[in-house]
Amino acid sequence: MTKPDYPIRTARLTLRPFTPDDHAALHSWQSRPDVVRHLYGGPRSPEETTESLALKASVTWPEKEGDHLALAVEKDGVVIGEAVLKWLSEEHRQGEVGYIFHPDHHGNGYATEAAAAMLDLGFTHLGLHRIVASCDAFNEPSWRVMERLGMRREAHFRHNEFFKGAWGEALIYAILEDEWRRMADAR
Ligand SMILES: CC(C)(COP(=O)(O)OP(=O)(O)OC[C@H]1O[C@@H](n2cnc3c(N)ncnc32)[C@H](O)[C@@H]1OP(=O)(O)O)[C@@H](O)C(=O)NCCC(=O)NCCS
Repeated sequence: MTKPDYPIRTARLTLRPFTPDDHAALHSWQSRPDVVRHLYGGPRSPEETTESLALKASVTWPEKEGDHLALAVEKDGVVIGEAVLKWLSEEHRQGEVGYIFHPDHHGNGYATEAAAAMLDLGFTHLGLHRIVASCDAFNEPSWRVMERLGMRREAHFRHNEFFKGAWGEALIYAILEDEWRRMADAR
């Protein structure tokens, strides 16, 4: 396991740990009902964003199973979203990716680009064997990101939980390290 040097640069984006200065940016999407529609919890108050930011800023690299790394994603110096890598299991080398972007920056491929960087971190730096992603089945923009990343739909759970007042459905996607490397070699 090797902690990467920050910032991480992709073709168009810069990824780095959150700092206390990111409150306004984080709140700009965490406070929006349209952004949290398919996520657990409702729009956050400024105080709730402060708590959420402190948690994000406290993890700059997953040191142990269960740690949740959230990186701020910048485009031209402006924080436009976040990309997440969670270490699910050390024994089984499993992880999970996630992403949330401000709606002003949807539709440009930024979530896919940032999530690809998180897959690379998981496989190359954390030594994972398999990385999953999950979403509300009605969150089509989210599962389309997973498909653009080359992840495979492994499950569609129907009515697996009662979510925001109705029976919910969840999709699970995954990609293995060798599948990711084959795709990287083909690029
Ligand atoms: C999920 C979420 C990040 C997806 O955002 P998105 O903008 O659709 O995803 P991307 O940034 O990868 O952009 C992809 C879109 O940009 C287009 N695009 C434009 N230029 C592109 C490029 N250079 N590369 C790739 N895609 C590009 C794609 O065609 C695609 O549009 P389409 O879906 O109409 O075909 C966004 O909807 C979001 O933040 N939702 C709220 C939080 C959330 O639900 N998160 C997921 C929790 S599981």
